[in-house]
Amino acid sequence: MTESTGKITAKTIGGMKGQAPVAALTVYDYAMAKLVDRCDVPLMLVGDSLGMVVLGFPDTTEVTMEDMLHHTRAAARAEPKALLAVDLPAGSYETPDSAVANARRLVDAGAEAVKAEGGLVIDEQVRAIVGAGIPFLGHLGMLPQQVKREGGYRIKGRQADEATALRDDANALVDAGAFAIVLELVEPALATELTAALPVPTIGIGSGHDCDGQILVTTDLWATSPDYIPKHVQPNEAVRGEMERAIMDWKEGMSN
Ligand code: KIV
Repeated sequence: MTESTGKITAKTIGGMKGQAPVAALTVYDYAMAKLVDRCDVPLMLVGDSLGMVVLGFPDTTEVTMEDMLHHTRAAARAEPKALLAVDLPAGSYETPDSAVANARRLVDAGAEAVKAEGGLVIDEQVRAIVGAGIPFLGHLGMLPQQVKREGGYRIKGRQADEATALRDDANALVDAGAFAIVLELVEPALATELTAALPVPTIGIGSGHDCDGQILVTTDLWATSPDYIPKHVQPNEAVRGEMERAIMDWKEGMSN
């Protein structure tokens, strides 16, 4: 933990490329945002992963704008030094108009950047969001909002056509003005190639060690995600163990 006070912006994150690794974690409320910010993590995401790890849904597809607004307001009350990015949930960015309207609602709730899933297929939406002055964080590779259509979570970019599509998507996001791009479950050699080729930071999750930064679902790191922890995470089991021990010690103390 350090005492630095400077506010992190999308420009700060963009400028970290080649200078320092971009550490990013998800936060879902005031307490988490306070704690993560005390550790000087420069990028926080109110991820729609909250559907699984907070709201008890099987995936992110049922998360609504109301859910995202509620959790964004809570995290924003922490007034973090970190850049506070927020996911546009499934179905909230079908057109450029709806994308901008919903991105503005998130900004009014405290978001300082928004993230949406996809490349060329949402090119107009990304341009509209950036054109409205809202910093945009891209998300390519495995797109959790498409998990039902995909039939599960899998590594992306192993086949040549999929790798070509990912390159095109990444270039489109850069051209549209994304300040950084999350690469989720991208075949590591391709993630390395994209990291070397793109002028903006890549932030990997399950995409190897060579991205410009890494993002994790914080409750996966803490080993407290209730149902499932992906293989690429090394959960810190001691955190959950200590939490359970604190509860047990307190409970046992009641009978003394
Ligand atoms: O919703 C989320 O938490 C995410 C990250 C894990 C990238 O999109």
